[in-house]
Amino acid sequence: MHNHWLSIGVSSCGLQLRRTLMARLQWRTFNSNGRHRVVVTKPLVGENWLETLLAADCRVDQCLSERILSRAELRDAIGSRCDGVVGQLTEPWDEELFRALKSAGGKVYSNVAVGFDNVDVSAATRHGIAVGNTPGVLTETTAEMAVALTFAAGRRLVEADAFMRAGKYKGWLPTMFLGKLFYGKTLGIIGAGRIGSVYALTMARGCHMDVVYYDQFQNEQLERKVRETGSLYQQLGERCISIRRAETVEELLEAADVVSLHTVLDASTRHMINNERLRLMKKDAVLVNCGRGPLIDERALVQHCREHPDFRVGLDVFENEPKMAPGLASLPNVVVVPHIASATVWTRTGMSTLAAANVAGIIRGDPVWNQPDVLAFVDAPSVAAMPRAAPSIVNAKELGLPQYKQMSRL
Ligand code: DGY
Repeated sequence: MHNHWLSIGVSSCGLQLRRTLMARLQWRTFNSNGRHRVVVTKPLVGENWLETLLAADCRVDQCLSERILSRAELRDAIGSRCDGVVGQLTEPWDEELFRALKSAGGKVYSNVAVGFDNVDVSAATRHGIAVGNTPGVLTETTAEMAVALTFAAGRRLVEADAFMRAGKYKGWLPTMFLGKLFYGKTLGIIGAGRIGSVYALTMARGCHMDVVYYDQFQNEQLERKVRETGSLYQQLGERCISIRRAETVEELLEAADVVSLHTVLDASTRHMINNERLRLMKKDAVLVNCGRGPLIDERALVQHCREHPDFRVGLDVFENEPKMAPGLASLPNVVVVPHIASATVWTRTGMSTLAAANVAGIIRGDPVWNQPDVLAFVDAPSVAAMPRAAPSIVNAKELGLPQYKQMSRL
């Protein structure tokens, strides 16, 4: 750990313990005399995130270790002076940490993620701390990974790849690695927000699939796009496509050949795919999850995949990350990747920039952008050309933070 941090207001009591704890982690400090102190809990992508914080005269203490920080390590990193934190979805940002952040003079926390189920937003709001996330740069990237997993699972890519590498391919056979044809089938989307919609359009347009979606809200734009594509296909003499909104999850599960999960994780959606609902699905359906692991009861899934070898699954997220439920790893009908749906250079650079801009913006006292298009931040030619705003603060309304649009009209 850098010496600067240890010198910041750490009482002698517990210092030794803190030294021992922090010694296991590798840290680096930028702009050690900066006016504000920001803790960044992981290596990030690109340079813009750092320039954004430095331009706001922040001293940046960044943890370079890949290990997930414990609550005690996070508390320790906050110390007695910390204006903001750029943190991760793997960290438990709860009452205890927000209390510590508040006592250290903190005003803002931002996840480097669009999801924020690891953050107790009410606790942050109670302590007057703004919570940022990074929407608007993950949509296509995550949807593309869901498409990749759909094909990888349905066409058995990982099994076939392993077969080849093991030298088992002795010649073409009509019976080898039979998978699922998607053309003309029914696609089920649970959660038709931004990512779900892009995934739906990519699959429906590419494979002429009919779409059935389940969402609290009607998605008129998605419906219009699918219908317009359907009419075009009809004019061209190709298979038409349709869309309808299911009234229940059950109705969707029974109808769909492919089911992809794009809903948020909360108490109402935890284990939404459970044993009973898996049984409603077609025996050779494909299930994809690039949302959050606990949407699926993973033990029930393992059992279901064992009993139904033609049922295929593509998972980017897991119920108890980084662990997998016992048995999952040895199932040939499941394709697993380590939560990398947003892992493209452009997206991760954008996420890093947005998270830093959330923290820098609130520290500077800027208004809140809160508009869907954040390209003005991520594609800005320089940090100076970025809007003077915090791009996405989820509790802006509760905290009564001023909005950029209102301010610019004044
Ligand atoms: C998110 O942003 O919520 C993803 O899970 C990580 O990219």
